[in-house]
Amino acid sequence: MIKVATALLATIAFATVNALDNGLGLTPQMGWNSWNFYACNINESVIMDTAKAMVSNGMADAGYKYVNIDDCWAGGRYPNGTVYADPNNFPNGIKYVADYIHSLGLKIGIYTDAGTETCQKRVGSYGYEINDAQTYAEWGIDYVKEDWCYATLENPEQRYQIMANALNSTGRQIFFSLCDWGYLSPWTFGISVGNSWRTTPDIKDNWDSMLANLMAQAPISSFSGIGGWNDPDMLEVGNGGMSSIEYTSHFSLWSLLNAPLIAGCDLIDIDDETLQILTAPEVIAVNQDPLGVQGSLVKSFNGGLQQIWAKPMLDGSRAVVLFNTDTNPASIQLNWADIWLVPSQDAIVRDLWAQSNLGSYTSSFESTNEIPPHGCIMLSILPSNGNSSN
Ligand SMILES: *[C@@H]1O[C@H](CO)[C@@H](O)[C@H](O)[C@H]1NC(C)=O
Ligand SMILES: *[C@@H]1O[C@H](CO)[C@@H](O)[C@H](O)[C@H]1NC(C)=O
Ligand SMILES: *[C@@H]1O[C@H](CO)[C@@H](O)[C@H](O)[C@H]1NC(C)=O
Repeated sequence: MIKVATALLATIAFATVNALDNGLGLTPQMGWNSWNFYACNINESVIMDTAKAMVSNGMADAGYKYVNIDDCWAGGRYPNGTVYADPNNFPNGIKYVADYIHSLGLKIGIYTDAGTETCQKRVGSYGYEINDAQTYAEWGIDYVKEDWCYATLENPEQRYQIMANALNSTGRQIFFSLCDWGYLSPWTFGISVGNSWRTTPDIKDNWDSMLANLMAQAPISSFSGIGGWNDPDMLEVGNGGMSSIEYTSHFSLWSLLNAPLIAGCDLIDIDDETLQILTAPEVIAVNQDPLGVQGSLVKSFNGGLQQIWAKPMLDGSRAVVLFNTDTNPASIQLNWADIWLVPSQDAIVRDLWAQSNLGSYTSSFESTNEIPPHGCIMLSILPSNGNSSN
């Protein structure tokens, strides 16, 4: 009990003392971003229709609130340096879109770049941070993602600090998402500069890419906390390149890792299966747990083919993902000792996808059904006597 509690308190104290003090990111951010599905093919109607869909399909009620425009909105700069939206795809400007999104009770995010140009060669914020932050605030922007193209000679901690200060100076609360793809270990400085930081190259809509980004989180889970989160990149759930079993694993693990839950699929024409995954209430609750301790890889079997990931929750329970990366079905035994519980302890085991209790177990749990290839079981383990750890 004491060891774990001390470690948890240390994490919280660290976050409180050093976090970027903008009052945001107390739990991982949830929302949608245009890049994974639309790439550069965006315009004001697709952004506004997506925001409307997020409300009507129940995602807003499930916790999603940011509607984030990625690259390809910027048109250029006026002679005085002020950035303006591309009149071809945002003819009414960004404030018009922001006002609409706010009228739905949602928040709006925008994209820029720490270099002279964005990745798609629109204007970047290099040297214009103060001017751009002011413009974003005037438009009513709630979230800024800053990419790293054409910034290769810069130090990310210093460059991102310039934008962080500029955002702070506006007086508007603006979530700051760093996106240097893990360059120079942003997890070591991210929490004092931004609310989240990308830890890996861009995710792609396939199993290998998702698994690679996941495995890169194993050594750095201790660096995230309240106010600033490791970001293994946005969700691909619903984009078609993985099976629904794989998307379920992707969503389970991103939730357990306290990763930002930024959906990246077509919300205007979303299918039921995708919606079920993205709105699973007990899975999202793991991600949004106020204790804010990121899940970690606690055990591997057979050279990593089977894995146990776990995180402590505020109520003393453990959230656990039993993950089978193999191409054959497998069973995984979970021992209480693997997840910081006293072995002799009785605990209620609950299936978080099925939203049903599996029963009371002592010292270990093993599923009666094998876990399918690339699949997982996501559980809550709640000690019945409240004396949750050694
Ligand atoms: C700006 O920074 C100060 C000092 O960290 C903090 O107290 C304040 O809340 C910040 N303001 C905004 C709008 O982020
Ligand atoms: C807006 O973008 C969407 C998605 O790319 C596209 O289907 C639609 O035709 C575009 N609308 C206009 C008016 O360009
Ligand atoms: C810069 O110029 C544009 C276009 O004339 C104008 O709308 C904007 O208010 C100016 N910005 C500042 C900060 O003066």
